[in-house]
Amino acid sequence: MYGGRNTSSTGSRSVPYSPASVYSDTSTTRSSTSSSRSSVASAARSVAGVFVSCFTPPVDTRSSTKSFADSDEFKPAASDALRAGSERKRGSNRGVYATANNSTHGREPGSVKFSMEEILKATRNFSSSFKVGQGGFGTVYRGRLEDGTLVAVKRAKKSVYDKHLGVEFQSEIRTLAQVEHLNLVKFFGYLEHGDERIVVVEYVPNGTLREHLDCIHGNFLDLAARLDIAIDVAHAITYLHMYTDHPIIHRDIKSSNILLTENFRAKVADFGFARLAADSDSGVTHVSTQVKGTAGYLDPEYLRTYQLTEKSDVYSFGVLLVELVTGRRPIEPKRELMERITAKWV
Ligand SMILES: Nc1ncnc2c1ncn2[C@@H]1O[C@H](COP(=O)(O)OP(=O)(O)OP(=O)(O)O)[C@@H](O)[C@H]1O
Ligand SMILES: [Mg+2]
Repeated sequence: MYGGRNTSSTGSRSVPYSPASVYSDTSTTRSSTSSSRSSVASAARSVAGVFVSCFTPPVDTRSSTKSFADSDEFKPAASDALRAGSERKRGSNRGVYATANNSTHGREPGSVKFSMEEILKATRNFSSSFKVGQGGFGTVYRGRLEDGTLVAVKRAKKSVYDKHLGVEFQSEIRTLAQVEHLNLVKFFGYLEHGDERIVVVEYVPNGTLREHLDCIHGNFLDLAARLDIAIDVAHAITYLHMYTDHPIIHRDIKSSNILLTENFRAKVADFGFARLAADSDSGVTHVSTQVKGTAGYLDPEYLRTYQLTEKSDVYSFGVLLVELVTGRRPIEPKRELMERITAKWV
């Protein structure tokens, strides 16, 4: 299952932007994409002042309490949130990803089966000081493999695993093993042993988009940064829908699944809900499925019909775009009725 993975696409690492460019390394593609992006970015910067009111920090600005930020060992070399603005290294295609990927130390992404010993060593026995987050699937730890590669270790909750995460785990493994794109979190391997289910993926050091919108890292994303993030996510979704062997629907596009690199490049994470899309060649246009995803981002048509298509991701991406521009969560129960749900008030 994993051996057949097309490793030639690793060349995509040097051709970051256009989904088309994932399979093309012509300099024409690179330079035209680069210039169009930089002009979008500079135009965005020049009008950014107009949108200042959208970027007023939330009143309850919290200081960063992320445990990984406290550790010197894992502190990103350039995690200074001030870079969120004009200092981001976005000037050239090379700088954009070459510096963003220094957390992988040359380890090739792949579908390696890890041993428990390796995982325990990497996470210092799941040390609580290495814990970086908690989600529906379980706990996420940062870790360092023997070859120096920084990784995120996602450990499934045992209680939840018994009930329904078995299928989800398999889904994540299958999906992660076949995708590779600079705007998607890289998959390094997994462990399935007794009641342990663990996924090892690229460690993306600069927190989630939602944390940055909440100003948790101390500084504010300017409009150009937000536009670039939107473009990165659009490329990731386009790749999943159009450039993999079989279209993949992510099913859980949301701001806490968008991770940021030191240079504020976005990487889409969390393929736990991913589902292979219907094969359009066979005439089937949707997949019938139990509804999965996150409230506020869910496509109402999918909710009504249980019929999943790539458009469901596009809907969630639309909600994410509003979130990016306004900073508002898709559902804010404390607001007055008309304004509670992004999809309604917007
Ligand atoms: N590859 C990664 N690199 C760095 N941090 C990560 C990585 N993956 C996850 N995290 C951190 O761990 C947290 C939990 O991630 P997880 O995907 O388990 O849950 P979630 O996305 O917050 O919620 P949900 O369960 O609804 O998906 C994230 O919010 C993020 O802070
Ligand atoms: Mg997640």
